[in-house]
Parts: sequence; C-alpha cells; structure tokens
Amino acid sequence: MLRFSLCFLFLIGLFSCQRPANGALQTTNAPVHLPLNNSQLLETIAFGSCNRQDESQEMWQYVLRHKPQLWMWLGDNVYGDTEDMQVLADKYALQNSHPEYQKLLAQCPIIGIWDDHDYGVNDGDKTYPKKKESKKLMLDFLGVPANAPVRSREGAYQSFTIGPKGKKVKIILLDGRYFRDELKSNPTRNPRYFDNPEGDVLGEAQWQWLESELTNSDAQLHLIACGIQFIPEEQIFEKWANFPEARKRFFNLLKKTKPAGALLLSGDRHIAELSRIEMYGLPQPLYELTSSGLTHTWSGGSEGEPNRFREGNLIIMKNFGVMRIDWKGAKPAVTLEVRGLGDEEFLEKRIEF
Ligand SMILES: [Fe+2]
Repeated sequence: MLRFSLCFLFLIGLFSCQRPANGALQTTNAPVHLPLNNSQLLETIAFGSCNRQDESQEMWQYVLRHKPQLWMWLGDNVYGDTEDMQVLADKYALQNSHPEYQKLLAQCPIIGIWDDHDYGVNDGDKTYPKKKESKKLMLDFLGVPANAPVRSREGAYQSFTIGPKGKKVKIILLDGRYFRDELKSNPTRNPRYFDNPEGDVLGEAQWQWLESELTNSDAQLHLIACGIQFIPEEQIFEKWANFPEARKRFFNLLKKTKPAGALLLSGDRHIAELSRIEMYGLPQPLYELTSSGLTHTWSGGSEGEPNRFREGNLIIMKNFGVMRIDWKGAKPAVTLEVRGLGDEEFLEKRIEF
C-alpha cells in the first residue's frame, strides 16, 4: 500500500511539472514559456522595446489588458552593455524574476530580436567579441527551443508563420547587429555617426535568407522587424539610413518580392512614431511603426525631431504597441495602436492591404 501511495504521489508530481515547448523540465528560476501555436488565427499582437530590467515593470499590466496572443520584443530587451556574460545572464535573470513580466509569460508566447544594449554594447556592430555567447543568452531568455534553426546558424534572425491557410501572418525578425558593418563616430555628435555608404546591415547569409523568406511565402501579412529604424532619415541616431546602400537593397528586395501586407516594426529610439513611405515599385505605401521604450523615454528635447515620413505625432512617452488584425475582408486590415501607462492611447492607425 505504501509503495502504491508513493508511486501515485510521484506520478502526480511528474505531471504537475510544467514543460516548455522544447520539452525540458525547468528549474525553479527559469520561467516556462508558452509554446507558439502556429495554426491559430492571429488577431492581437503586442510589442515593445527598450526595457531596463532594473526599472519599474508597471507597463506589463496594461499590455496584458489587451490579451495579446503573442508578445514581440523589438530590441534592447534588457540593458546588458557588457562583455561579461555572467553580468548579462544576471540581467536576463532579473528581468525573468519580475512578477509583472511573469504574468506576461504565463499568458502568451514571446518572440523577439535584440538591438544594441541586449546584444552587449551601445550602438554595437559585428566586431562585438561576445556575440556568440550573447546570442545564446538571448535565445535562452526567449525560450527558443534547442532544435530551432536559429540555434545552429550565425546571427539571431528568425521567422515565424502563424495562422490557418489564407489567414497567415509571417513575422520576420531581422538581426541588425551581428553582421552590421562599422560606423565612424562624428566628433560633433550631431549626427552621431557619419554614413557608411557601402556598409551593410544584414550580412550576405541573412540577405539570402530574407529573400527566400519573402519569395517562398504564402502569408497574407508580412511583419518585418528590426531594432533600428528603416524609414526615417533625419534623426541623428543610428538608423538604416546610415547605410544607404543596404537600405536601398532592402527596399529593392521588397519591390522585387512584393510580399503581401508588408509592414515594418522597429524600436530603439525611446519614442514612438508612424512613418510612411511611397516608392515606385511598391504596390502601396509602406508603413513603419516604431515603439520604444517600455521603461524609459527620450529626454533629448521637448522640441522633438524632424521626420518627413512621419504620419501623426511624435510620441515621447513610455509606450508599447498593439496590432489588431481584421480578417473579415478578402484581404487583412491592421489597426496599429501605441499605448502607454494607464493604457492611454497615443496613436491609432488602420491600414488596409
Ligand atoms: Fe538600441
């Protein structure tokens, strides 16, 4: 009887353990990540960037109100800024320890890409010596399964296709750090860097991968995310526009492959804004939503900054983004929202494809 009872208790214990997507049992300190359901109809996504792990995590309660089916990290997910991997690991552990963040992990799967601070160095590029080690820590933080393709290649870029046939969303997370060429600092700091006219952002392997992802896709919506901004040109900080040849290559690739329902997402800037560009060869205007930051915001100047592509206001408030996808029509429509503390809405824009 005792043997039977012990066996029963053992079985209860075994099945009450939560298992992450990769099937490994978690230790008490590591959070359980909900697996991504690739066949679900995706209607609500939330996203954000620039999150100091040692600052108040009060934004999550407002993110959770929207019951997102997916959370997308857009970079600077923690502020690592170190070549000491124990320091970086501790910072990820601190982020994981926040009860507010644990509520998010319990409610929806998360995916993401890094920017410079979580990569390990402010405005970092391909020369950062700990990029391999840092990548592993980020993928662990995101709960990326051990057998995911990203684990066995250079760089942290990934794609996800979610949804039933005819209502698919492809999310492409671009790594703008691991292969990025160097920028020369401008001593005047205005702008921060001199452009690198021939310099690259993605590296050849990622370019080939991106072309293949855009070409071989049956998705109705393509969300393409990168830490740094794609469209804005005037702002004085890092941007794709610092690499004019690479930026032209990116837009030319969109013209060539014409992905259905293309939409750009970025972070990094401690501001939020919607940019819109019209280009010969693209079937319709291309939008980019920048959402940053979750825990802190730009203190550079209340006068703002120019962006000739901006539609609506420059938002200098802590914020996150919500994307609602309307599948009722023949083609999807997307409503983009930028929201802040108290769930205050700063921006809303519906885009028909
Ligand atoms: Fe950044």
